[in-house]
Amino acid sequence: MQEVAAMSYQVKCFECSRTIKDEKLDACPSCGGLLNVEMDLSSLRGQTPKSSLVAPLGVWRYAPFLPAEASKAVSLLEGGTPLYDCRALARELGMKRLYVKYEGANPTGSFKDRGMTVGVSKALELGCKVVGCASTGNTSAALAAYAAKAGLGCVVLLPSGKVALGKLAQAMFYGAKVISIDGNFDDALNVVRQLSREGHLYLLNSINPFRPEGQKTVAFEVIEQLELEVPDAIILPVGNAANIWAVYKGLSEWMEVGWISRMPRLIGVQAAGSNPIAVAFRQGRRDFVPEENPETVATAIRIGNPASGRKALKAIYDTEGLATDVTDDEIIAAQKLLGKREGVGVEPASAASIAGVVKLRHQGLIAKEEKVVCICTGNLLKDPDTVIKNAGQVMKAGASVDEVKRLVLG
Ligand code: F0G
Repeated sequence: MQEVAAMSYQVKCFECSRTIKDEKLDACPSCGGLLNVEMDLSSLRGQTPKSSLVAPLGVWRYAPFLPAEASKAVSLLEGGTPLYDCRALARELGMKRLYVKYEGANPTGSFKDRGMTVGVSKALELGCKVVGCASTGNTSAALAAYAAKAGLGCVVLLPSGKVALGKLAQAMFYGAKVISIDGNFDDALNVVRQLSREGHLYLLNSINPFRPEGQKTVAFEVIEQLELEVPDAIILPVGNAANIWAVYKGLSEWMEVGWISRMPRLIGVQAAGSNPIAVAFRQGRRDFVPEENPETVATAIRIGNPASGRKALKAIYDTEGLATDVTDDEIIAAQKLLGKREGVGVEPASAASIAGVVKLRHQGLIAKEEKVVCICTGNLLKDPDTVIKNAGQVMKAGASVDEVKRLVLG
């Protein structure tokens, strides 16, 4: 990996702007607000992507925008995921251009790897020995893998019975301490935050300000893959609400250094049973009322009290984007549609972004001529149970040519 020094930065409170000296904190000690990394990008002004970005496509290509030392990165070669030009799907939806950024191609099968390579690298820099998170599944899979790579202890808290099989298998496989919590994701996050405050672990949920720094690189990749053209809209699923913020933050930084000249609309899609951000948007609010009993087939985004919800709403309003919600049936239909038309397999939460496009096209809230990018956050194989339940029947036959022929020709 090419040696590029980390840029200078400050951690600040998103709410009261206070500078935070202790980088292990997950909230502002004076107002309790979310934390945010502010990069000093002054040395990049006047530069171009061509002159500044040297490494191959992937998270660490963007080292000049990252608050960690690239030469010491804990990396599994994350990022550099395909951007599919989905022409058949676009035609079906009456759109000029629809792209899918396939984050399921990351090392552990989700976009979480982008945040974890930076977050776990930071944990090492800060001298932490044990890392931990609460998770609906993907965060735990990614953290377990990166902690293994870094030689760190790892604790993950999962909502009992609500984690897709592939994700649970991954967390167990990489050697994390896996604890099933009798409660939902929001309950598990409260517990692990307390453990972090008591100094038992370094928290690597997306409220950790370094996680979105890695995740913002998905936006950089999209822009580069579109040959520096800015799409009209970027659509992504919203759960704990950090990823839409990360995309916003990345794009804002490229605006700041003059590498792009306008922002796309950012569109957040939630599941109808876990939709506090969509409700807040419909009411024109900048804060939200948590949903007490979140439910959805898209277990990755089964979250009622999105920790980064206020950041997400800022990202949406500042880009003149929007938030909407889709039913479980719409999610499963969209998942199948993407698979059948494009050969692209994504988990239900990721299909929410496709379901969002379908709905917004019908409502006329996405225009025919818009160039749209859907971020599909996780791999199909994360949740095989849901696929099998909704994919129809396997045909059965004896080991006989006649029997099989009857089925093939029937
Ligand atoms: N898509 C997938 C596949 C996810 O796993 C998540 C979040 C999201 C979308 C939503 O992203 O939280 O930044 O708004 N998964 C977390 C987890 C909560 O624990 O794996 P977000």
